[in-house]
Amino acid sequence: MKIAVLPGDGIGTEIVAEAVKVLHALDLKFEMEEALVGGAAYEAHGHPLPESTLKLAKASDAILFGAVGDWKYDKLDRPLRPEQAILGLRKNLGLFANFRPAICYEQLVGASSLKPELISGLDILIIRELTGDIYFGQPRGRRVATDGHFPGAEEAFDTMRYSRPEIERIAHVAFQAARKRSKKVTSVDKSNVLETFQFWKDVVTEVHKEYPDVALDHMYVDNAAMQLVKEPKKFDVVVTGNMFGDILSDEASMLTGSIGMLPSASLNSNNQGLYEPSHGSAPDIAGKGIANPLATILSAAMMLRFSLNQAASADRIETAVKSVLASGLRTVDIWSEGTQKVSTREMGEAVVKAITKSTKS
Ligand code: IPM
Ligand code: MG
Repeated sequence: MKIAVLPGDGIGTEIVAEAVKVLHALDLKFEMEEALVGGAAYEAHGHPLPESTLKLAKASDAILFGAVGDWKYDKLDRPLRPEQAILGLRKNLGLFANFRPAICYEQLVGASSLKPELISGLDILIIRELTGDIYFGQPRGRRVATDGHFPGAEEAFDTMRYSRPEIERIAHVAFQAARKRSKKVTSVDKSNVLETFQFWKDVVTEVHKEYPDVALDHMYVDNAAMQLVKEPKKFDVVVTGNMFGDILSDEASMLTGSIGMLPSASLNSNNQGLYEPSHGSAPDIAGKGIANPLATILSAAMMLRFSLNQAASADRIETAVKSVLASGLRTVDIWSEGTQKVSTREMGEAVVKAITKSTKS
């Protein structure tokens, strides 16, 4: 089992370090190799996704990824910005299926800004298409300057595009995932305005014919954004394009109390996957030791389950996380009166301890 470890920028290094400790606490044999990515790679090699990092990623069964980005790179020409590293990895490895579960842990019901009765028991799975849409349209803009901005330009544009096979394969992923859950898929589009998303809706409807046991409904993205905060529990599996999925998954994350809790998996058709927290590099809190490592630790659990065929170990991590939350430990993002504030490292070590204890018992 070969894992590429790519911590990246900002809080990425701190949270990935804790996830790596948790993986080492399991009695499994991994080969782990670390490499630079994002702004860190740009500083060292002049490129956010150096050839050596891409090569390592391609040669691994799975990638454990932290986060990339910092405002200090805003002036760089777009292809050199840290974000291009994650986009390049997704595209180069064909990681088209992005799973972003939004689960509300019972102990954290009070940490959400929504009323407890709206979110208690919440368990949504957002499936975001990850290698198409306006993110990868051509041309990508009209660049008249080299610093990534457009002084004096009269226009800029990005093109939105989906092909039939791209929509078909993500629709299959969604219907198959729904079969293992409550057999209900909501496809989110903007077919009232955009050609691309009329096409999306038509193709999803066609693929649905192969899954008569799964219920399908369609929702416009603006309405979905509203329903997510009005009545989130009426969703189960949500499938949508790259751009809408980016936005809705951030929204859904806050239903659970903190974006610091949400893992994600990005898979290709060989089940090779990249695993990363749904949150970003948070440069404002980087280096302070206060970031929540649980999203990354839970991403490591998803990695064991989806790409490395180690479901029992994934369960152990998830059980350990629940027990640590039950014991009242909280990083600052999920802290509330009556619970104990801990650092990034203390949280990681508590999970390690809970896992080690479960081995002994
Ligand atoms: C995400 C992030 C990325 C995206 C950025 C960092 C390019 O927001 O994974 O959701 O937009 O996909
Ligand atoms: Mg995002």
